Amino acid sequence: MHRSVRRSTVGFMSAPDSPRFFINPRHGIPGVAVLPHRGFTRAKEAITVWQGYAPTPLRNLPAIATDTGVAAIRLKDEGPRFGLGSFKALGGAYAVGKLLAAELSHRGIARSADSAELSSGQHAAYTNRLTVTCATDGNHGRSVAWGAQRFHCGCVIFVHETVSQGRVDAIAQFGARVVRVPGNYDDAVREAETQAKRNGWFVVSDTSYPGYTEIPRDVMQGYRLMADEAADQWTGAPPTHVFIQAGVGGAAASVSIQMRARFDPAPLLIVVEPVNAACLMESAQAGRPTAVQGDLETIMAGLACGEPSLLAWQELERATFAFMSIPDEAAAVALRLLADCGLSVGESGVAGLAGLRRAASDPATRTALQLTTDSRVLLFGTEGITDPAVYERLRIHGEISASSTNCGI
Ligand SMILES: Cc1ncc(COP(=O)(O)O)c(C=O)c1O
Repeated sequence: MHRSVRRSTVGFMSAPDSPRFFINPRHGIPGVAVLPHRGFTRAKEAITVWQGYAPTPLRNLPAIATDTGVAAIRLKDEGPRFGLGSFKALGGAYAVGKLLAAELSHRGIARSADSAELSSGQHAAYTNRLTVTCATDGNHGRSVAWGAQRFHCGCVIFVHETVSQGRVDAIAQFGARVVRVPGNYDDAVREAETQAKRNGWFVVSDTSYPGYTEIPRDVMQGYRLMADEAADQWTGAPPTHVFIQAGVGGAAASVSIQMRARFDPAPLLIVVEPVNAACLMESAQAGRPTAVQGDLETIMAGLACGEPSLLAWQELERATFAFMSIPDEAAAVALRLLADCGLSVGESGVAGLAGLRRAASDPATRTALQLTTDSRVLLFGTEGITDPAVYERLRIHGEISASSTNCGI
């Protein structure tokens, strides 16, 4: 499953297949403000009044920190997020609400309909006639479908042929029509765009490209709330490092922006990608957005992206301290390590921990990343068990199980 090339404004690289690590020479160079602060304030005001909103827990992992040779590791656990299982609940659904409000205003029906008005069904007679759509490999589509149900509009989600039935069912439970498309993620993207044009639907994508930034910007403003909560929950001396996983980079960029807004100095940001889908690292090395080609398959389904999001790239190209890529085994080990500590974090959600463990175990990388026994690391467990069958396979059938020590959570 992969999210890959869809616009021709980027260069191309073949995907290398061994773990790598790259210190970003452009780290710290000032650049454009990708997500204006007002937009975040609006997103926060909207999302925090949705029914069922509660900050997700920030878990302290003292035993893993000791074992990793750092002072503290805290993991933002997105599993409980709105019952959807991932941080993506904050993005797609928020963008659906924003889009509907803009349409109501545009058509002179309501000047600034908020989430409460939309979810009350007050404008349903009109919004029911609108349809949102996207392609997905799971979590984003679930969020868009949930937002559409909550705000009373139609929803059609396109998935490609290898998206698991578990993930399809999870989307369909929110009343969306799920259409399976032959081929890969790109084929699903094309089909969503074709059908949107043909039927007058609205595409709500989590990635941006030249000419399509408004909706993905709203998606990213929603994601910022995850990092904002983590900053609120953090106690004691501030974090020194953030290891954050990336697909198209929207999540990592949102975290980066919010860390810079909340901590001075901001913690060092290390972006972690699967070895054969490391499009942000390739872009950093090339000095411009660069798509990777080849086999993008990885167990980290949400990170299997071949092309960076334009907005994300604009933040990460100068805010990221280092990029690293990890193999699937590293993610599987991290998943089991957390499972042994009683935490259910899915295969895409554990990549930051996997990256940290790899970096910290190699003396040269440790030094390059300024990791010491005083380091305080913030991680984002961006998904819980979003596909139980996949999760159980990885948890149970792994060769390596973390020792069931007292994890001290
Ligand atoms: C669980 C999880 N974590 C991280 C990501 C990466 O987010 P982004 O594509 O914005 O980099 C995804 C994307 O689908 C995801 O599902």
